[in-house]
Formats: sequence, structure tokens, C-alpha cells
Amino acid sequence: MNTLKTDMQKEINHLTILALENAQKILQKGDLVGLPTETVYGLAANALSDAAVAKIYALKERPLFNPLIAHFANTDEAKKYVQFNKWAESLAKAFWPGPLTLILEKKKECGISLLATAGLNTLAIRVPAHPIAQQILQGLGFPLVAPSANPSESLSPTTAQHVKTSFPDLFVIDGGPCTIGLESTIVDLTGEKPAILRPGLLTKNDIQKVLSLNLADKIDGASIKAPGQLKRHYAPSIPLRLNISQLQEDEALLSFGPHTLTAQKEINLSSTGNLEEAAANLFSALAELDSSRCKRIAVMPLPNDGIGLAINDRLKRASS
Ligand code: TXA
Ligand code: MG
Repeated sequence: MNTLKTDMQKEINHLTILALENAQKILQKGDLVGLPTETVYGLAANALSDAAVAKIYALKERPLFNPLIAHFANTDEAKKYVQFNKWAESLAKAFWPGPLTLILEKKKECGISLLATAGLNTLAIRVPAHPIAQQILQGLGFPLVAPSANPSESLSPTTAQHVKTSFPDLFVIDGGPCTIGLESTIVDLTGEKPAILRPGLLTKNDIQKVLSLNLADKIDGASIKAPGQLKRHYAPSIPLRLNISQLQEDEALLSFGPHTLTAQKEINLSSTGNLEEAAANLFSALAELDSSRCKRIAVMPLPNDGIGLAINDRLKRASS
């Protein structure tokens, strides 16, 4: 993790201060910027401006019932907008800045665009760890809403190039490939018991340990609690076949760990069977196989523990 941090620091050193200033200017004007976070690239806008937020929904062609995550520079900033409870205190202390999103009740007249919360009384909040996201947030006087910077339902971007391919006219800050590669874990803290709405690098176990209690079972995708957890999501344009043991004709292979299959086109998510490496490579690999001339992507099984659960969640939605 320390080497990752040093790498990120190097990346930020290579960026001209001008690029960061430019991003801030664009955001202050009410326009959109593509920016790196440790999970995936975000499409950012001023969270307090309906007009700015509307541009996100338009560019992504995102359904208006699907609310956005508000990003803050630190926990104290976040507390101005939502009603913190003791679970939130513990989780924020343990995991922020980092890949965790909390759902909490909004404060009355908190000022966050009603469009961004799709009219809900709750708000999704996160303090990202990526130095570029941090630097931009610290220099602004307002929070940023930032969904993943991809057209609605398609693969989440883990490089600046992915974002530029989808949105050629967007100003994107290049912070190198995302180190985690999967979206943040979402925990709903508004119910009787905390519940995980979206699995991620931080697992149910990680959260339970900090809260010293058992989490409610994951609320299924179709529930109103997480309107964005559509069954079909993160999808490449060609079909996926999961948990394969044999290849069929014209299939590209998405493999994991050592194996004996041979395919005309293959990407191994981690040849040593490392799940964190697989998570970081997942969306890039799917994007590359998607642009191959194959008719389908055959996916080898991945273990369902730790971040494997989140990887399998994304693969299931991609194949739905
Ligand atoms: O890692 C991440 O979280 C990335 C980076 C850019 O921060 N962002 C991200 O945003 O994944 P997005 O918009 O792709 O996913 C946000 C998810 C959606 O499934 C949405 O429905 C859910 O969060 N969500 C937002 N507000 C909610 C709320 N008030 N209650 C329940 N779910 C909510
Ligand atoms: Mg998304």
C-alpha cells in the first residue's frame, strides 16, 4: 500500500498545478471534470448546483431516479450535510479517507442538489483518498457529486483513457490507473441495522469488526434502498458467460490464476491468483476483450471471498 501511495504521489508531482487549477475553475463555473479516485474515475460536478448536477445525468444518460454520491475533503465537511450517528463515527474513523460510502439522513436544508439525491431524504457520502481528488476538494468551497465516469450501465473507468474514449470533450485529469479498480463499498446506516448495499474492497467482515455487530443481509439490487443497483450494470457490449470450465467457439477468455485452457484472445486478471490484483484489472480487461473480435467473453470462476465477492457481483451484473 505504501508503494502505491508513493506511486500516486509521483503521478501528482508530474501534473502541472495548472491542470488542477483548471479543473477547479471548470467546477466553479458549474461544468464537469473527469477525475481519478482510488476506486474508479469519477465524473464530478458541484453538488450544490442543480444545473451542474443535471449535466452529469445528461452526459451519462443516467436515469433521474438514481442518486449520486457526494464527495468531501474530510469527515468534518461531510458532517455539515448529514446527521452522523455512532456507526458513522466509527466507520469514518476507521476507513476515511478511503473506499467507503455511507448512507445517512440528510440535514434539513442541507443545500445538496435535490436532483443529486433523487428526492430521497438520505445522502450517500464519501471522503476519497486519492491525492488528486483530495487536492481538488480541499481547494473548493463545496462538495462534489461524482458517479463513475462512464455512460450509464457500461463499464466503470479505471484509466483516464477510458474516460476520454467515452466522453471526448470532457476535461479529464490523468492520475494513472486506479489502484483499487472497483467502486466503493456502500453501507446504509439509516436502518435498524447497518446493511451493505454494494460490496467492495472493504468487506462485510471489515465493517462488522469495526462496529462489533452483525450486519443485516445485503439488500438485493431491485430494492428502492439502492436505486442504482440495477440488475444489469457494468456491461460490455458482447455477452459474458460465467464460471466456465471449457471454451466454446469464438470466445475470448477472462482467466484467473494458473490454468490449461487456450483461447484466441485471453487476459488473465491475476496469473498468481491474487484477488486484489484481479479487482484492479477487471474493468480494463473487460473493456479490452469487449473490443476484440470475439463473439462472447468466457469468464473462469473466481473465489467468492474478500474482494472476490465484489468482483463476482460486478461480473454477475455485467452478464445479466
Ligand atoms: O467508488 C465510488 O463510489 C465511485 C467513485 C467515483 O467515488 N462512485 C460511484 O458512483 O460508484 P455511482 O454513481 O456509479 O454509484 C453510486 C451508487 C449507486 O448505486 C446509487 O444508487 C447509490 O450509490 N446511491 C446513491 N445515493 C444513495 C442513497 N441515498 N441511498 C441508496 N443508494 C444510493
Ligand atoms: Mg457507476
